[in-house]
Amino acid sequence: MASLEGKVALITGSASGMGKKTAQRLAEKGVKVVINDIVPEKVEQTVQEFAAKGFQVMGKVADICNATAVNEMVKDVVERFGSVDILVNNAGMERAGALRNLSEKDWDITLNVNLKGAFLCSQAVHGHMIEKGGGRIVNIASRAWLGGAGQAPYSSAKAGLVGLTRTWPWNWGGKG
Ligand SMILES: NC(=O)c1ccc[n+]([C@@H]2O[C@H](COP(=O)([O-])OP(=O)(O)OC[C@H]3O[C@@H](n4cnc5c(N)ncnc54)[C@H](O)[C@@H]3O)[C@@H](O)[C@H]2O)c1
Repeated sequence: MASLEGKVALITGSASGMGKKTAQRLAEKGVKVVINDIVPEKVEQTVQEFAAKGFQVMGKVADICNATAVNEMVKDVVERFGSVDILVNNAGMERAGALRNLSEKDWDITLNVNLKGAFLCSQAVHGHMIEKGGGRIVNIASRAWLGGAGQAPYSSAKAGLVGLTRTWPWNWGGKG
């Protein structure tokens, strides 16, 4: 396997849970990691923890549902770390419940974080990756994409994410 040493990885929603663990595993392999999350205190705490372990880390508080914030984040990362070689679209959340109890707001936020956020972050990094000759984008979906009780927005978002992933070879095939 090719060495990951010195690569730059942006992991969304990485101030806790699976994203934080992913960032840690990458940092242990010498990857410079960007901790993105929407909760500033959690970003600060994770950056401090990682820095204390000797990892190369930077924190970026940004809402991945906001195109302007995402583009600024990617610009800052490229300025400071020189690249974005790996993007892990990890940030996610779920509003579950019986269909009649789910609000429009529940639908919008679930689709926005799980699906639109991955679209915006991928769009923001792909030009840079192609210029550099390639990159890696990893989308964290869920078995829930197949459907689940009370999971209308979440399942729809994750199914959308699988569909989005499957469009990328059509757009970027042969470009690394
Ligand atoms: N935990 C599981 O069992 C499980 C199973 C299947 C899939 N997944 C998926 O794995 C991913 C991580 O799950 P987790 O359990 O670690 O979740 P988590 O709730 O522990 O972490 C998600 C992180 O995303 C952040 N976040 C939420 N909205 C954001 C936004 N708009 N912008 C930036 N960051 C935002 C949250 O603050 C949080 O720190 C999600 O995409 C989830 O759907 C999780």
